[in-house]
Amino acid sequence: MDSLTLIKLPIENELAKFNQLFNESLNSNNDLLNSALAHIMNKNGKMMRPILVFLAARLVGDITDETLHAAASLEMLHTASLVHDDIVDESTERRGQLSANAIFNNKVSVLVGDFLLATSLKHAGLTYNCDIVNVVATLGRTLADGEILQLANISNSEFSELVYFDVIRKKTAILFETCTHAAAISTRASQELATHLSQLGDYIGICFQIKDDIFDYSDSSEIGKPTGNDMIEGKLTLPVLYVLNQKKDAWATSLAHRIKEGTASSEEIASLIDYTKKNGGIEYAEEVMHNYRQKAIDILNQFPDSPIKDSLNHYINYVIDRSK
Ligand code: IPE
Ligand code: IPE
Ligand code: MG
Ligand code: MG
Repeated sequence: MDSLTLIKLPIENELAKFNQLFNESLNSNNDLLNSALAHIMNKNGKMMRPILVFLAARLVGDITDETLHAAASLEMLHTASLVHDDIVDESTERRGQLSANAIFNNKVSVLVGDFLLATSLKHAGLTYNCDIVNVVATLGRTLADGEILQLANISNSEFSELVYFDVIRKKTAILFETCTHAAAISTRASQELATHLSQLGDYIGICFQIKDDIFDYSDSSEIGKPTGNDMIEGKLTLPVLYVLNQKKDAWATSLAHRIKEGTASSEEIASLIDYTKKNGGIEYAEEVMHNYRQKAIDILNQFPDSPIKDSLNHYINYVIDRSK
């Protein structure tokens, strides 16, 4: 049995209900919209966010209809953000198939992303819990803020790890944090438990994005999306930031500036990726990721032993060991 199947075992029934709810909310009378939605739903993601919502809820209470709609809202917002992200990143592959923008063009994809975003809000509303609506709305604002910060940082000539962490917290970790937070709200957990769970989600989300950024330095075809894209877009992530700041090499520094300006050739980008790998950039990013993993495990260890806690442990390990 693969590790994701094992992780999902204690929440199988809830995930089945979730799938039905999620899929039913994605249809319309419009043929073009329906075919774009069908394309997007043709390939499921790993469902990291709903799995986290259900496991976090079960860790502190029972899964309710509120939990179910919160999970649907968060996976929907995630899906919308991917559709918009592929337009922004000019990326043509997602989940091992052509991205929506590659098939339907940017105009259609922006609008389909909006439809998904509004469907996310609909699920948030169906929780009939203002606190959940509030955290989802805050999440949407923060995701957009993070993406814009990342865009603005391309023209920042500094190689700042601090800005890197600000970006990944806002564009990725907040989503995982909201999963665990909304889960806690949906079970009427105490404020103290909700704070613990939010922190757990934040650490997991940071691990998740560092891993995603490490993927970009590999040439595996298993990942299901293009690699090497970050530098093509002018984005410098943790492995290369570390090496640049550590070595302060004149050639690498000037090349990195040209990558940010968008004037480097693909051969030059390949050479900076190679330089990063040869100088311990990946190992450094892995070490940082493992430190955040440990912080997550430390929070989890404050909870009594249970099959759900075991699943969350496996979940955290999956985030850092996964191959896609
Ligand atoms: C991709 O998330 C976006 C990032 C935060 C890196 P996932 O890798 O969870 O995407 P799917 O849903 O499984 O395709
Ligand atoms: C991930 O952005 C976060 C969002 C989608 C908001 P990336 O651009 O780093 O993610 P991938 O690698 O395309 O999935
Ligand atoms: Mg992208
Ligand atoms: Mg992006």
